[in-house]
Amino acid sequence: MNKKILVCVTGGIAVYKAVALVSKLAQAGAEVKVMMTESAMEFVTPLSFQVMSRNDVYVDTFDEKDSRVIAHIDLADWADLVVVAPATANVIGKLANGIADNMVTTTLLATTAEVWIAPAMNVHMYENKSVIRNINRLHEDGYRFIEPAEGFLACGYVGKGRLEEPEKIVELIKDRFSQPVNLPLTGKKVVVTAGPTRERIDPVRYISNFSSGKMGYSLAAAAAALGAETILVSGPVELPKPEGVQLIKVESAAEMLEAVLSNFDDADVVIKSAAVADYRPKEQHSQKMKKQEGDSFIALERTTDILKTLGERKRNQILVGFAAETNDAIEYGKKKLSNKNLDYIIVNDVTDPDGGFGNDTNVVTLLSRKVPGTYPFEAMQKKELAKVLLQTILKLESDVDNDS
Ligand code: PMT
Repeated sequence: MNKKILVCVTGGIAVYKAVALVSKLAQAGAEVKVMMTESAMEFVTPLSFQVMSRNDVYVDTFDEKDSRVIAHIDLADWADLVVVAPATANVIGKLANGIADNMVTTTLLATTAEVWIAPAMNVHMYENKSVIRNINRLHEDGYRFIEPAEGFLACGYVGKGRLEEPEKIVELIKDRFSQPVNLPLTGKKVVVTAGPTRERIDPVRYISNFSSGKMGYSLAAAAAALGAETILVSGPVELPKPEGVQLIKVESAAEMLEAVLSNFDDADVVIKSAAVADYRPKEQHSQKMKKQEGDSFIALERTTDILKTLGERKRNQILVGFAAETNDAIEYGKKKLSNKNLDYIIVNDVTDPDGGFGNDTNVVTLLSRKVPGTYPFEAMQKKELAKVLLQTILKLESDVDNDS
């Protein structure tokens, strides 16, 4: 790996693993330089990193080792990739808020290289709302995270918060710099919808559903990993933007319709996993509705069926719908496949305890129109299922091409 990697080490017990990371990066052929915060030095001395990287270690913004350059700018420009490992809640918070008060944070703001962040902290800190908010903000700003692993933590807790193993981080970096392979969706545009829609009643109330967006976000991530230009049109959810995906946030069915239509003409594949509201309040009150004596009723009107609209307009696009059913799932799925003029439909019985709304797993059956048949899949993680579904659809498409 003929690349220049700057490892920024911040203060947590996982600093000892950063020594192994630097060693393994150097063994893999990378040129590695290390920068440490004051608190990182409480755990391991700079000498360990100096020995492993065979380079000077940088700690103090004002300790200029070479008078011809300004060290933190020079290092920021030098790096092909910056890895913050371990990244404490503190450095994540500073970066999310543009704070530059030491050499690490100053360099992070100054670099135009990709920055990867490998958090390590106590499980409750990792789940803290402000930490989640900061991580989400950094995701939106284009930073890549290497998620911490689950297991025994130095603080005595068991949970998510362990710095990912150095070998795994090195593998991810190697993959990042490996020659691009010809991926099956390279040059294709894939539009995925995800999450619920919210249909406002008044400024403080809305009609919605329990979709978490996990299925749709997994599909978008899988499409991007297969090389597609991926547009993710998402209703309100609490998930970070998948890497390599263009995210369009919407609220209502009407906004989702507009965003999808404006990306439809040049799309190759559209996957509609969003749980779009079928009805919205006929009237949206501009002021909060007041309580009254007795019962109250809200008149509802139909939203536009986005998928059906796409089915009517479609030319060469491959159109993939979802069907969320609670009974006779396959029968209803078949009807939707035909009524909405789809190429594929992914049917899930949302009463299945291993599937449906909010779960990390799903149990689905794929129905195809071009190659009539049912393709059931066992319960699996939505992230895994998304990959398998795309691979199956690509395989069925290539079978159709070969037969014609
Ligand atoms: O988000 P998760 O928590 O991970 O949960 C995933 C999921 C259960 C939401 C997902 O797997 C799923 O089933 N999505 C489709 C939900 C749904 O709205 O199903 P439906 O049978 O009501 O609609 C059929 C299809 O028409 C869907 O592709 C839907 O996006 C589309 N539709 C529906 C109504 C509407 N007005 N416009 C639409 O495009």
